[in-house]
Amino acid sequence: MSQASPTESPDQNLQSSLRENRIFTPSAAFAAEAHVKSFAEYQQKYAHSIADPEAFWAEAARELDWFAPWTRVLDWKLPEAKWFVDGKLNLCHNCVDRHALGARAEKTALLWVGEPADEVRRISYRELHEQVQRAASGLRSLGIQKGDRVAIYMGMTPELAIALLACARIGAVHSVIFGGFAASAIADRVNDAQCVAILTQDGSWRRGNEIPLKTTVDQALEQAPSVKHVVVLRRTGSAIPMQAGRDHWWHELLAAAQPVCAAEPMDAEDPLYILYTSGTTGKPKGLVHTTGGYGVQTYLTTKYIFDLREDDVYWCTADIGWVTGHSYVVYGPLANGATVMMYEGAPNYPNFSRFWQLIEEHKVTIFYTAPTAIRAFMQWGNEHVERHDLSSLRLLGTVGEPINPEAWMWYREKIGGGRCPIVDTWWQTETGGIMVAPVPGAVPAKPGSATLPFFGIEPDVVDRSGKTVPAGSGGLLVVRRPWPSMARTVYGDAERYKKTYWSDVPGCYFTGDGARRDADGYLWLMGRVDDVINVSGHRLGTMEVESALVAHPKVTEAAVVGRPDELKGQAIVAFVTLDAATAVSESLDALKDELKRWVTKEIGALARPEEIRFTQVLPKTRSGKIMRRLLRELATTGHISGDTTTLEDFSALAKLRENEES
Ligand code: PRX
Repeated sequence: MSQASPTESPDQNLQSSLRENRIFTPSAAFAAEAHVKSFAEYQQKYAHSIADPEAFWAEAARELDWFAPWTRVLDWKLPEAKWFVDGKLNLCHNCVDRHALGARAEKTALLWVGEPADEVRRISYRELHEQVQRAASGLRSLGIQKGDRVAIYMGMTPELAIALLACARIGAVHSVIFGGFAASAIADRVNDAQCVAILTQDGSWRRGNEIPLKTTVDQALEQAPSVKHVVVLRRTGSAIPMQAGRDHWWHELLAAAQPVCAAEPMDAEDPLYILYTSGTTGKPKGLVHTTGGYGVQTYLTTKYIFDLREDDVYWCTADIGWVTGHSYVVYGPLANGATVMMYEGAPNYPNFSRFWQLIEEHKVTIFYTAPTAIRAFMQWGNEHVERHDLSSLRLLGTVGEPINPEAWMWYREKIGGGRCPIVDTWWQTETGGIMVAPVPGAVPAKPGSATLPFFGIEPDVVDRSGKTVPAGSGGLLVVRRPWPSMARTVYGDAERYKKTYWSDVPGCYFTGDGARRDADGYLWLMGRVDDVINVSGHRLGTMEVESALVAHPKVTEAAVVGRPDELKGQAIVAFVTLDAATAVSESLDALKDELKRWVTKEIGALARPEEIRFTQVLPKTRSGKIMRRLLRELATTGHISGDTTTLEDFSALAKLRENEES
């Protein structure tokens, strides 16, 4: 039995007709305690939510604290949505104050484990309230105001979560840059948003090594003059240069700050954050998320999809540098008053049992991770899992890419002990919150399918004209109506937002994903249909990597494609043409290594090509477009059998084949 592999190229995926037939119904015991207890209840609630989405979302919004009520639930003029118009609230207040000042004051908000052994911090909601206020006052004391953009480039420390919340408290717009990005990628993002400050650490721990964050920030700031302040958390204790007037120690800033800092009343549509993600051009897009709608949907999806209960210990393994961390480490679970576990390091350090040991030790009940991680766990071997008691777990989740049924079954049996429901959650940086996933006590799961839409969400699978395709056929995944946590724009480029998301399919939001809907209405995601590749659950634009490669003085042209990879989902293969002098004179193996290092330096290790292939020419259409489809086929199968009729120069194929054989 098999199913559309997540690693097939999008073209192949759309024609896929493979099927997975197993169905797993929630256990009676789980359903009895769940927020939604039966499939009939899900169906009824969903039908209700779609018949009157504004009433549905308004009811959800009333579960948060508002400083002033909204006057209208939704203003919609494609592509501009305004949710909870005129409403005023603050998400830091909703995530922290309302718990700290109520019955959850002494409940653990953050349960943090450092990578170096035996380091555990438990921060109660009361303590979180104190620290967030000091951090917010500290930022204010630097002159940072509502609307200012603040970059955050940190490791997975509690202070990273505190940094986001402190920005939200004063209305500063945070722009978190994943700690694996290189200096020039930081500079691009900081410049695009004109950030006035950056929060960082001396370094962070990863597999026993120190990642020097502050030094990288210093390099980035040579090309990013908008930054006036750098706040540095001391984490590793390494000696780092501090620039007088510009650089401030986190602990000194907070010690000197006012202990009380009122939460700024924010308009529901005020921006909360910018998060950059890859698209089909070389320049990453800064998606802008706003306050009210984002707060409501992340709150509600956390409650229902993870079926959160008061005594849960919830662990989402994503780094806060990605959207999953924003929505499901910070805002969603904290808005629910959950105990959120955070781990600083990698799953295979100091040994392959690290995650399972943490689950056992801290009695984790909900575990949310990525398929690429699950495939790595499988490869490392069952013995690392079997050594630990995972009986505290009651729910498992996945996100970031399609999960192959084999990995799903392993996850269910080996980690979930056959008893935990699995929520396969489909969503995107752009959607802000979960869109398609089984409500766990109610919706039967099929391994490899994200199943059915969340309440109030109306996805469809369509052809280019927007017509729904028949059940069983592949098509484009779209969303037919606005939802509260949708990104409102691309920072500084409203036109690009409209063109990328709201122009391909008439009247719909286009996700960039291919999908198939089966006879039960279940959605099966089939990968991207654009030039975006998904490496270990992280999005990379092929153009972004190509731009980095052609910036190297010896490279003339580059074409980057994704090749199926058992572990990472997709791996990057770069076809590169060299300038004539280099092509004859260089040691090509050394140059391959040099180019891999170059891309790592330009973008970060996550963009490092798995393979570089030198070629004399790239296959192009008559209009000069590189035929990535052919390169994808070559990288995947080792030969080209697809349609080549639009090829401009047929000798290109022969030359590519020659390289293949040599
Ligand atoms: O292709 C889909 C895939 O990841 C893309 C979104 O990537 P990003 O914005 O980085 O956000 C990842 C975390 C939300 C989607 O367009 N994707 C995400 N979740 C799934 C998925 N593909 C299949 N199944 C999923 N559960």
